[in-house]
Amino acid sequence: MNNWSEGYVADIGYTYGYYPELNPLRMRLALLYSGLVCPEVRNACELGFGQGISVAAHAAASPVQWHGTDFNPEQAGLAQELARASGAAAQLHDASFAEFCARQDLPDFDFIGLHGIWTWVNDGNREVIVDFIRRKLKVGGVVYLSQNTLPGWSTLAPVRRLMTDHVATAVAPGESPAGRIDAALAFVDKVLATQPAFQAAHADVLQRVAALKTLDKSYLAHEYFNQAWQPMYFSELAAWMARAKLAHACSARYLDHIEALNLAPAQHALLGQIADPTLRQTVRDFMVNQQFRKDYWIKGARRLTPFEQSAQLREQRVVLTAHRPDITLQVNGITGEANLNPTIYAPLLDALADHRPRTLGELEQDLAKRQISFAQLAQAVMVLVGQGRLEPAAAKGEAQQARQRTDALNQHLTRRACGSADITTLASPLTGGGLTVLRASQLFLLARAQGQDDPQAWARFAWNILSAQGQTLMKDGKPLHTAADNIAQLTVQAQAFAEKQLPLLKALQVA
Ligand SMILES: C[S@@+](CC[C@H](N)C(=O)[O-])C[C@H]1O[C@@H](n2cnc3c(N)ncnc32)[C@H](O)[C@@H]1O
Repeated sequence: MNNWSEGYVADIGYTYGYYPELNPLRMRLALLYSGLVCPEVRNACELGFGQGISVAAHAAASPVQWHGTDFNPEQAGLAQELARASGAAAQLHDASFAEFCARQDLPDFDFIGLHGIWTWVNDGNREVIVDFIRRKLKVGGVVYLSQNTLPGWSTLAPVRRLMTDHVATAVAPGESPAGRIDAALAFVDKVLATQPAFQAAHADVLQRVAALKTLDKSYLAHEYFNQAWQPMYFSELAAWMARAKLAHACSARYLDHIEALNLAPAQHALLGQIADPTLRQTVRDFMVNQQFRKDYWIKGARRLTPFEQSAQLREQRVVLTAHRPDITLQVNGITGEANLNPTIYAPLLDALADHRPRTLGELEQDLAKRQISFAQLAQAVMVLVGQGRLEPAAAKGEAQQARQRTDALNQHLTRRACGSADITTLASPLTGGGLTVLRASQLFLLARAQGQDDPQAWARFAWNILSAQGQTLMKDGKPLHTAADNIAQLTVQAQAFAEKQLPLLKALQVA
């Protein structure tokens, strides 16, 4: 073990995810919909930024001054490289939480985010983080925090324990991280094959263990094999947050805001009778049995009057981030799949189909003849953001200021995509954050930036890069062997890219 890593898994890098909940624009709309006064975010901080994809995208795509740390120097190195490439003035460090939080040169923050941290650090680090929030979060400031939740983990927490105990006692210390994980999973299989009484008491354990085996090893290493790992009941988390004067603001999952998608009527009614907000959330966790919570917490929850709330919502800009013809009118909540009302959603999506940002007030006027109330419109916006089809858009002028930085970052990322498929995020100045663009599409963008203007040329460009590295494509689960087959497959992808994704990327100022 490295002596800086405090038992945290450090011999296998973390995944390269982008987390939109860390985007201050996402935070703002969630609070606004919940009727809360939201801070204007000038200074923000991400604790434990991992590979730094989120913090680099947010620093490039908005005027917010970001700070952050992750004690893994390889990860901090990539985060710094991306921030440097964009020209953003982000201050990203490789300090431990204890070192970083003791710095005297940090500003006070309007927004502090921690994604995938709280469960995986020990109580000493939780003390450091809570003390930092108490001292450095401004009054009215917001914290985004995600964590593994109980009772949702009651089936897999014992399985995790089985795996870490097996690794500690029966796997050779020099085994590779992937080898340790394989050995642990094989051991779990062996135990479950004996049909233990545990299995009878936890009917879903086989299905959940099968799902584990499909996950990326880097993810599994960090999720399951840290020394520190503590899922909490919501009420325990709330007690920690209260020490930093934080109250629960709202869920950072937009679909959680529409309870008809998540709760049966009797559950909804029971929750409505529970006066204490903490108990209400704890009970809700029993009802939905989620494993992972994502929440916004606030230092001083001030309520907007209904008049202020609807006025601010009407000024909120949103932009469609999916190809309109591909959008089906279904949504998956905890209670299952539900149909979205076509008399509301179809005209709303049509009004947004050109990917130009519009305020909710403008949309209300556009849809005036359709007898759609403002409450229905606002709810539809929340559902579509929750599904990743719509994003809150930056205020006019802000996107223009960020464009140079996002162009520089995106150029760096598309060049990087020549050698690697790991980062699937590019930055949009319009959404103030990242969006998913897979490697092939990044290569097509690069070809286009280099002056090639038709999909066939983009396909050949991509093939030259892949074939030089001995890489080939798959079709219907089988590898394609000849150059002609690979180019044909890439051409199909490039044509689809030109038709569906490129107009969207242009509108979002990514291309
Ligand atoms: C589960 S990962 C999450 C990373 C990132 N937030 C994400 O979701 O992609 C936890 C991260 O916290 C960092 N970390 C853990 N303990 C830390 C500490 N004491 N000080 C600083 N960083 C720490 C690790 O290096 C790792 O990148």
